[in-house]
Amino acid sequence: MIGKPRVWISRPTFPDIVARLEPHFEVTAEPEERKFSPTELAARLSGQDAVIVGLKDHLGAAEVAHATRLRIVANLAVGYDNLDLDALSAAGIAVSNTADVLNESVADYAWAMMLGVARRMNAAERWLRAGHWHATEFKGWLGMDVRGRTLGILGMGRIGQAIARRAGGFGMPVLYHNRSPLPEAEERACKARYVDKARLLHESDFLMLVLPLTAQTRHAIGAAELAQMKPTAVLVNVARGGIVDDAALVAALREQRLAAAALDVFEGEPAVHPGLLELDNVLLSPHIASASHETRRAMTALAVDNVLALFGHGPHAGRPPTILNPHVLASAGPATHH
Ligand code: DGY
Repeated sequence: MIGKPRVWISRPTFPDIVARLEPHFEVTAEPEERKFSPTELAARLSGQDAVIVGLKDHLGAAEVAHATRLRIVANLAVGYDNLDLDALSAAGIAVSNTADVLNESVADYAWAMMLGVARRMNAAERWLRAGHWHATEFKGWLGMDVRGRTLGILGMGRIGQAIARRAGGFGMPVLYHNRSPLPEAEERACKARYVDKARLLHESDFLMLVLPLTAQTRHAIGAAELAQMKPTAVLVNVARGGIVDDAALVAALREQRLAAAALDVFEGEPAVHPGLLELDNVLLSPHIASASHETRRAMTALAVDNVLALFGHGPHAGRPPTILNPHVLASAGPATHH
């Protein structure tokens, strides 16, 4: 090949971090956030050797059909339900995510949401801003204490474990359910007890969802599951929209079969179920659980490291750190450009 390999970055990130690519690649970075249509994505991908994309970019067989040079898709997220991993693997394209660097930020945010909704901070703030505070009422704005209540975690990966580790400070016993129980040492480290899903739903006072979205987890919390929860329970979702059936959740909240919910993610986001917008016992945020300065920079750096490494550069040369389909690397051999 004549010239440097090419990298396309689908959204604005951090120029000082992306600059690490420049000695080795011709870099095109989109200057503005936007959603690309499948046709636009296919056109952008064609002729690229590597791409760094985000959750808004849905890549499958059709989008990469003409991307004959493409060696790696680096996703700026730990979740990768925006990518058809099988199709990209079949096309010989390595895929990386941003595993681990966001665990602590997402865990902090999940706790912030839980505490915020339990103490009704969002609704109280809206009320104050609307000019309703004329007198302080001793019995106004009563919320729920979290201390001593049971924290349930559905999906006990590394983010779930980071959430569990914080529970000691609040004196909360932790139950969890996962495809399989954690190894004993890890379970002990986060002082959590494995239970089946029915028991988790039944016993949790606060239920946090931290599982990936797959065909198997779609609507893991639907009408039947909500019916098994306590009417005093609070649901927190920092994982993915689609894990919760939002229409069923709205019905449960409206009918007071569930006390409250805190949601960072939504089915069909950025659209939000209109029923959620009408409810006061719901705290809503626009998918920002990993959005701290430090973590978004670390996510960008990890995506850049994966691209550099695949092409034999940088601190992990030849060993991209968070590849989801390593068999593709094994069969392709090192990526080199001549
Ligand atoms: C992730 O990493 O999967 C988050 O949802 C996006 O920051």
